[in-house]
Amino acid sequence: MKKILVTNALPYANGPIHLGHMLEHIQSDIFVRFNRAIGNKVYYVCGDDCHGTPVMIKAGQLGITPEQMIEITSKDHDEDLKGFLVQYDNYYKTHSPENEEISSYMYNKALENGYIKTETISQLFDPEKNMFLPDRFVKGTCPKCGAKDQYGDNCEVCGATYSPTELKDAYSVVSGAKPVLKESLHYFFDLPKAGDFLHDYIRNSGVIDESMANKLEEWFSQGLKAWDISRDAPYFGFKIPGTDNKFFYVWMDAPMGYLASLKNLLSKLGENYEDFVKEGSDIEMDHFIGKDILYFHSLFWPATLKAAQMRLPSHIYVHGYVTVNGAKMSKSKGTFIKAKTFLKFLKPETLRYYFASKMNSSAVDIDLSLDDFMAKVNSDIVGKVVNLASRTAGFITKRFEGKLATAPYNQEILDKAASIKDKVIAAYSSRNYADAIRTIMELADDANRYIDAEAPWVIAKQEGQEEKLQKVCSDGINLFRALITYLQPVLPEVAAHAEEFLNAKLDFATLDKPLVDHAINKFKPLFSRIEKTQIDQMIETSKEDLKQAQAQTQKKDEKKAEGSSDFEPLAEQITIDDFAKVDLRVGTIVSAEEVPEARKLLKLKVDIGFETRQVFAGIKQAYTDVASLVGRQVVLVANLKPRQMKFGLSEGMITAAGPGATEVYLLGVDSGAKNGDRIH
Ligand code: MSP
Ligand code: ZN
Repeated sequence: MKKILVTNALPYANGPIHLGHMLEHIQSDIFVRFNRAIGNKVYYVCGDDCHGTPVMIKAGQLGITPEQMIEITSKDHDEDLKGFLVQYDNYYKTHSPENEEISSYMYNKALENGYIKTETISQLFDPEKNMFLPDRFVKGTCPKCGAKDQYGDNCEVCGATYSPTELKDAYSVVSGAKPVLKESLHYFFDLPKAGDFLHDYIRNSGVIDESMANKLEEWFSQGLKAWDISRDAPYFGFKIPGTDNKFFYVWMDAPMGYLASLKNLLSKLGENYEDFVKEGSDIEMDHFIGKDILYFHSLFWPATLKAAQMRLPSHIYVHGYVTVNGAKMSKSKGTFIKAKTFLKFLKPETLRYYFASKMNSSAVDIDLSLDDFMAKVNSDIVGKVVNLASRTAGFITKRFEGKLATAPYNQEILDKAASIKDKVIAAYSSRNYADAIRTIMELADDANRYIDAEAPWVIAKQEGQEEKLQKVCSDGINLFRALITYLQPVLPEVAAHAEEFLNAKLDFATLDKPLVDHAINKFKPLFSRIEKTQIDQMIETSKEDLKQAQAQTQKKDEKKAEGSSDFEPLAEQITIDDFAKVDLRVGTIVSAEEVPEARKLLKLKVDIGFETRQVFAGIKQAYTDVASLVGRQVVLVANLKPRQMKFGLSEGMITAAGPGATEVYLLGVDSGAKNGDRIH
């Protein structure tokens, strides 16, 4: 048994989780579930990366403190990740007491060991906001091609890279002011001092794939440079020990956040932290990251650990980028899909399966081709795996009181199911999930061919064939059990339901012992097909998100200009008699259906005590789980003049709050109110 600490890169606290992030969380979660399934002990941690200028500025724009913003986002991120069945032991944050302690400990050690230097540098400064400007917060005209509004580090038009002081007509993105050059003392980590160690570590320790090691060679051949680890106030971060107003650059304390999350977890578990972090620790530490942050993880992070005389990462696993339909995720095409939007329309395991079926240990990009996604999930999970159980379970339940046969009919195929175990384990261990899935699906094909050939539905009609029928169907169930056991790291929820159905725990260790003379439970459908409309709605909603965000910024800008608040202006004053004209009644939704031709409408029947009304309500985007509306008490405007719509007569209006589209919140009443009661 191995002990492994597994980490996933910490998402920034200034934006939502999207499907690009999900690739990594799914990749690491499968790795963790697989390792647990073969008996390893895993500590699986993540958390939000909270510090830095973008977080500080975004919180400022929202009119809240960075701490408040972190609270909100971190809850949101945690929810999304749970929604995708990603099972962190701890989802923590870099803005935490543990991380403050770890960063000052590691910094002081580095200082003691001669890795910290200081130097005065000149940098662009916003004289209005009184802050130094990171390159991304300065814009201006490209010095090479003359394109306007280019960032301070590179031009998106001609591709030139330059320093922000070379920009023409530079302005601060924060205030619009013209930046000035200002001097300031900065703290540097002496990366060249760790150069020989790093080169040897990258080349000879097995921490990283050869192709990535080759990529890192570029940095060595250019010559490593000292790393600027300090930022001046105002900056949202930890103060550097021994200074008055210098803060750690966000990337200094970000990877330390892995250890902070671990430390927080271990203290809850009552386990020892020192064992994990001491130099030469025999506990594995594996980081999952994207190719864009390779440099930080394989150079800076090991160097700071080395300087603090602490253990080093065992493995750094690098993945590529997610593209959708062959192109970069795009907000305007609706392919920049947030985790939440996906989950609103589709089951998490569909994405887990699809990503797994395409993932290997290399850092090549992974395309989420939506047509292929639908076809593959429907054909593999529904058509091949679940179908195997649904075609055989009924006979066992109806004809044999739920009891599996005492012996197999075809030992050979069951042996085959057990025999792919080593291959599947090897594939998961090396993160070649695509290989694992391919091997499992070959077995699924064999299993379906076997059932097709024996055709239990034909045997069932023949006389005197009871024993054969029971045996063949039991083989089908045992083959299903093997497939789901292999897929359990990818499809944990389906696997949990399969355990209920099989009335047995799924376990890699007992795969070679089929269930015999064993009672199973009634089969319930485990997975439903993806319909094209679910995908279309997801894309539409993603486009809608962009429009809403644009409208909000515009509204905010307009309001800022007017100097008013974010709320809708108050309507004209009315008298109590005016209010009495509106007859509001309590009612219960007794049926709810989609109106397929209308993007926003649901057709509701509302029982208001003395009669039932038909109402078309524009709440489809907000209430996608239509069935859940039935039985809810709502408030109906009961004396609104009926309106003939394209789809039928609308006899009233149900009341709701919110700006519209996905943000609509139905009004309800406290329990006790009866249908037909009037609201006064
Ligand atoms: N906060 C840093 C990581 C600090 S780790 C000590 C960061 N955050 S991030 O939110 O921008 O990205 C988090 C992870 O998601 C990174 O590993 C990044 O590579 C990955 N991805 C972000 N967008 C992605 C895609 N479109 N596709 C695949 N992975 C992507 O970097
Ligand atoms: Zn240019």
